[in-house]
Amino acid sequence: MKETTKQLENTASRRSFLYKGLAVGGAGVIGAGLLAKGLPAFAHGSSDLTQGDVAILRFLAAVEIIESDLWQQYNELGGIQDREVPGGSGSTAYTKALQNLDADMSQYIHDNTDDEFSHMNFLNAFLASKGAEQVNLDKFRTLPSSKATGAQQIPRLTNLMQLTVDTSWWTRYRNDQQNPDIDHPTFPQAVPDLFQGQHPAIPRSDADLAPANHIQAIANTAAFHFGFIEQGGTSLYPTLAQGVTDLEVLRILLSIGPTETMHFQVWHDKAGAAVSPPFNVKDTGLAFPDLSTTNDENLRANLIMPEPTIFLNRTFPHVSIIRPTQQGGSGGAVATIKAFNADGLFIGQSDEFMQFVSNLAEQADQAQRAA
Ligand SMILES: [Fe+2]
Ligand SMILES: [Fe+2]
Repeated sequence: MKETTKQLENTASRRSFLYKGLAVGGAGVIGAGLLAKGLPAFAHGSSDLTQGDVAILRFLAAVEIIESDLWQQYNELGGIQDREVPGGSGSTAYTKALQNLDADMSQYIHDNTDDEFSHMNFLNAFLASKGAEQVNLDKFRTLPSSKATGAQQIPRLTNLMQLTVDTSWWTRYRNDQQNPDIDHPTFPQAVPDLFQGQHPAIPRSDADLAPANHIQAIANTAAFHFGFIEQGGTSLYPTLAQGVTDLEVLRILLSIGPTETMHFQVWHDKAGAAVSPPFNVKDTGLAFPDLSTTNDENLRANLIMPEPTIFLNRTFPHVSIIRPTQQGGSGGAVATIKAFNADGLFIGQSDEFMQFVSNLAEQADQAQRAA
């Protein structure tokens, strides 16, 4: 892990291959399409995608492929396996533990998975329609599947079995005095134990299905991980949107991004159910504090609406907002890959994979809105 993190920081100058394939631009095709619709010829130029727009879309496609891979693993074991989201056959004990948080948990996992695949497929299809290179991470699908009954035995991009889950998003959205874009504070963890050591969020094998407290701890870990993943998308899209030039690309970011926020809000609510009643799991070393009855407003489970806080600068009145959203800040593309890496999602991944996604991230962060 330390090596790959270090490598992440050393990739600043390695981006030469990124725009391979973009030389075959789609300008001709786009022009023909516009003419067919009777739009004036001068509209062509503004419809050509800038390198920055392509970089943003390609990075988002990569993130959505990563999201699809991890959500697929959750769905195979704890969601609903059907024609819409095929693969896997479910783990009864894991599914029941998740349903202790909410009876509809499996439906939400299914629908979140379905959404990620749609994001991935749409972004790649849009890139292709503009003559830009699609993103394909198939050669990096090398990580093992869970051995638990219900999981497909196929190679994966992400690792859900050694997570170190940052649960500070919980307190970040409850804080009314600080903004990660302004004073870069460290927000306290909702579940400090999840931010130390490595924890499975899916059963690694059928040996993880009992005792009941053990599989419940795994389901609770998943619930906080769902929130961690989706709050990331919630910040990523508005952050990158500020670098977009083309209005249609902006519309794509402004239309997909809020669906990440809809996911986040649901998971924020469900994670609160994971810790009620007070739940301590001695055999896994994981304690879930009781957030449902605490009077601490930075922790209480039902305070899931974003608390108004400072925005832009302290002279303005407090406002309820997504945070962070600063370009190049802690919600940017490189920060997202670093956060995924620190989360343990990429444990076992190759240096080549880390370099590939880091390069995409750097290009996306560097995109500037053109006049
Ligand atoms: Fe997504
Ligand atoms: Fe998402």
